[in-house]
Amino acid sequence: MKIGVFDSGVGGLSVLKALYEARLFEEVVYYGDTARVPYGVKDKDTIIKFCLEALEFFKNIKIDMLIIACNTASAYALDILRSKANFPIYGVIDAGVEATKREILDKNKEILVIATKATIKSKEYELRLKKEGFKNVKALATGLFVPMVEEEIFEGEFLQSAFNYYFKGLQSPDALILACTHFPLLAKSLSEYFGAKTKLIHSGDAIVNFLKTHSQLKSLKTKAKLEFYASSDVQSLKNTAKIWLGLNTKDIQ
Ligand code: DGL
Repeated sequence: MKIGVFDSGVGGLSVLKALYEARLFEEVVYYGDTARVPYGVKDKDTIIKFCLEALEFFKNIKIDMLIIACNTASAYALDILRSKANFPIYGVIDAGVEATKREILDKNKEILVIATKATIKSKEYELRLKKEGFKNVKALATGLFVPMVEEEIFEGEFLQSAFNYYFKGLQSPDALILACTHFPLLAKSLSEYFGAKTKLIHSGDAIVNFLKTHSQLKSLKTKAKLEFYASSDVQSLKNTAKIWLGLNTKDIQ
């Protein structure tokens, strides 16, 4: 099976990594809209317009399924993308909500969603989690983490002051939903900050489990053939993919 993975930029590589390691597909085509990232500070109409343009790219290369790795795109564009495609499209929000339900059985536990400004504004996670019966859901836009990850700031004093800026006065939640492609790269530092009580929910692991539950996909013996495309500077995307996914040059198209 050949699938597409779409993200606003390089961040979706954190989701691709989980998919790649789960060996669910023969071929994966990743497209990052690196020329127009970040989506998380843009308005709904712009996000939808960019996502529809990305869909045209995927329509031209014949894929069997599309995964929207970007939380911001999943929050605003999933329904419209589905209405215009003749292949299945999965976003990361359904998967994240399902993962939270699986990990947190007591609906009174505290859930904190962190994401871009646009994802938080959409209220998609909050509403869906509340619909599932979770009574204590907080959602916080922590957009500064996106450029920090792109600057490869994964730990240290600067990150700690960003944590203090956003999380000051908050109790450690029972679950922290990393509702942005970039945030899994801060997982270690976030775990240290909040302590062992807090379970982290990662979009990549969540989508792998979601696909295993909702489709007939089984793990394959070999890893997928990967192809990378970007709206600008594909070489830099490939370099980041090599580092984040631990790839060799021969693994990359
Ligand atoms: N990929 C985006 C997300 O998961 C983060 C980067 C952006 O703002 O475009 O929400």
